[in-house]
Amino acid sequence: MIHKVFGTLCVILAVAVGSVLHAQKPAVGYAPITVETPARPAGQQDVLQLTTPKMETVRIGIIGLGMRGPGAVERFVHIPGAQIVALCDIEPDRVEKTQEILVKAGLPKAAAYSGSPDAWKKLCERPDIDLVYIVTDWKTHAEMGVYAMEHGKHAAIEVPAAMTLDEIWKLIDTSERTRKHCIQLENCVYDYFELTTLHMAQQGLLGEILHAEGAYIHNLEDFWPYYHNNWRLDYNRGFRGDVYATHGMGPACQLLDIHRGDRMKTLVSMDTKPVNGPAYIKKQTGEEVDFCNGDQTTTLIRTEKGKTMLIQHNVMTPRPYSRKYQAVGTDGFADKYPTPMYCLRPSQVDSHDVPDHEALNAHGPVSEEVQKALMDKYKHPIHIELEETAKKVGGHGGMDYIMDYRLIYCLRNGLPLDMDVYDLAEWCCLAELSRLSMENGSAPVAIPDFTRGSWNKIQGYRHAMVK
Ligand SMILES: NC(=O)c1ccc[n+]([C@@H]2O[C@H](COP(=O)([O-])OP(=O)(O)OC[C@H]3O[C@@H](n4cnc5c(N)ncnc54)[C@H](O)[C@@H]3O)[C@@H](O)[C@H]2O)c1
Repeated sequence: MIHKVFGTLCVILAVAVGSVLHAQKPAVGYAPITVETPARPAGQQDVLQLTTPKMETVRIGIIGLGMRGPGAVERFVHIPGAQIVALCDIEPDRVEKTQEILVKAGLPKAAAYSGSPDAWKKLCERPDIDLVYIVTDWKTHAEMGVYAMEHGKHAAIEVPAAMTLDEIWKLIDTSERTRKHCIQLENCVYDYFELTTLHMAQQGLLGEILHAEGAYIHNLEDFWPYYHNNWRLDYNRGFRGDVYATHGMGPACQLLDIHRGDRMKTLVSMDTKPVNGPAYIKKQTGEEVDFCNGDQTTTLIRTEKGKTMLIQHNVMTPRPYSRKYQAVGTDGFADKYPTPMYCLRPSQVDSHDVPDHEALNAHGPVSEEVQKALMDKYKHPIHIELEETAKKVGGHGGMDYIMDYRLIYCLRNGLPLDMDVYDLAEWCCLAELSRLSMENGSAPVAIPDFTRGSWNKIQGYRHAMVK
């Protein structure tokens, strides 16, 4: 009897709550803001797993020899099969100074292009170049990449390779039409903790990865004066949104198999007000200026398969450098900053794998000893092959060397590159899409499928290797 009365009360309560909730439902459902996906031009196909004929030597032309560019020359002289054929910078002295690297390595000087903002076009037009490697400021990247491909070259472009959706689609369309590789030079996907963790995730050690975080947190106040013609601070001044998302996006997207079985579907973004950017300009020039980029921006992304990503950008306030790099799996967790660590269920690990298997638990980080054992066991084959040389040659601790090595290795062996033009698109699209969200009260924005229908064609992210 008591049960019956209780049951009836519950039903009445449920109906009452239901009708209140119903009454509170908004009259109109929300729809995310959508942006146009241009139709694929007739006769064009996707470039997933694109391969091009093997080549013994990859002949390279480099455009942009400021703070970043000469390091690439230093690295290429150590990479088998790479040959620097031409160098370009608007500033002639930068070309001359970079030639010294070749001379010091006992190599001939490269052809030099300089003196005008269009000199780079002559470099792209040379018939004896296979790869144009672009290390200029953000505003010039996409135009140079398109021009290089249109002149029969593969294009490798520094981060971010494109700043607008229009630029992104131009790069995709040109790569698909010319069947030339077009990649972004995202080095952070090759760092040791990231690649080891990716390898662990691919072996199932962390279970199903549900959430990934990434960031670019780097206080640039000491660097602003050194960018050519102040391009970087000017860009931040002129544009709201996550304008430099790719170091966080790259490793997170690889963990989540983006366009290899899943795709980013919606994002929402929010920023703080800009404070330190305009204050810096005021201090330098006395001017009160309008400044668009907030000191800190945060973007949340949800994927088609119900995973999430959290991406941050902050180049303005004092914070320890961080790219976040966090992976949340159903059976384990990885976190890189400030101190790399893993947390794992004991059931995930064979007792032979790690020294104190019994001490593993799902609440705290594994011990240093266990972490070392795990990182040794799951070292990525790319690191097994290249770690020693990479550490000697350097470039952000070696990851830049590995990036360049892999680019040349895959081109020489006719393999698909580790990154493709759709990665470039996905990792760069936050610049425009996060701004769109912010300017509309943090409204959800639908993220285009840059593969135009092929995001589920490949299952799982893998590096191409020659056996
Ligand atoms: N992946 C990384 O870790 C990393 C690190 C630093 C910089 N970057 C990227 O590298 C790129 C360059 O950055 P930087 O710090 O070297 O900037 P920088 O200002 O020091 O160098 C840019 C160079 O491009 C040259 N340039 C500009 N327009 C040109 C043109 N039309 N023709 C020829 N040369 C031209 C300039 O003269 C300058 O030497 C940026 O995209 C930046 O985001 C990436």
